[in-house]
Amino acid sequence: MTLQFRIADHGDFDGIWAVLMDGKAALGHLGIDQWQGAYPTQQIVRDDIEAGHSYVLEEDGEVVATTVIGFTGEPVYDSIEGAWLTTSDSRDPRYAVLHRVAVAQGHGGKGLGRNLLQSAEPVARQHGCESLRIETHPGNIPMLKLIERCGFSRCGIVHISHAEGASTDRVAFEKLL
Ligand SMILES: CC(C)(COP(=O)(O)OP(=O)(O)OC[C@H]1O[C@@H](n2cnc3c(N)ncnc32)[C@H](O)[C@@H]1OP(=O)(O)O)[C@@H](O)C(=O)NCCC(=O)NCCS
Repeated sequence: MTLQFRIADHGDFDGIWAVLMDGKAALGHLGIDQWQGAYPTQQIVRDDIEAGHSYVLEEDGEVVATTVIGFTGEPVYDSIEGAWLTTSDSRDPRYAVLHRVAVAQGHGGKGLGRNLLQSAEPVARQHGCESLRIETHPGNIPMLKLIERCGFSRCGIVHISHAEGASTDRVAFEKLL
């Protein structure tokens, strides 16, 4: 079995989309309102790829996990109930943000999520980032566990802008690089 973490290109769209739809279904089964509307849309995924921010983890040539590593800052992170570990904000971010993390159905629980988050660290370091930030729904126990197991610190609560009428609270984490 060969695992490869790499930047995505437009040919990866179908694989990424299938993994995100698996993630969406998994969240539905958890009974939480995260990703239960239109988000993440196909346009968002295409824009991620176009921007060069989309990454995939391939197992023997098949996309089995995906994440976005964003370097342009996240305006909603400028306000937090709590405190980030680092001080930069979205106008001049020195952090990278992980978004749209998902592992394919049937591939959970075998370390791919951990591989994905750990693989993002050298990419962010190469971009000169001092930290990684990530946030998830307070009811998303698998994701909360994954983030904590990867050594992130729980910093507080942020309010996302793409909740589509669902709850906006997200537990926010940061890890120094
Ligand atoms: C969250 C998700 C990415 C985890 O991926 P994964 O490949 O199953 O995670 P891993 O196998 O790497 O597990 C990493 C750690 O998280 C823990 N974990 C993972 N799933 C868990 C679960 N269902 N319950 C409790 N802990 C869990 C594991 O115990 C592991 O820690 P350990 O190795 O110390 O035991 C995956 O479940 C998923 O795609 N979920 C749907 C989409 C989603 O929620 N995306 C995030 C939106 S913010």
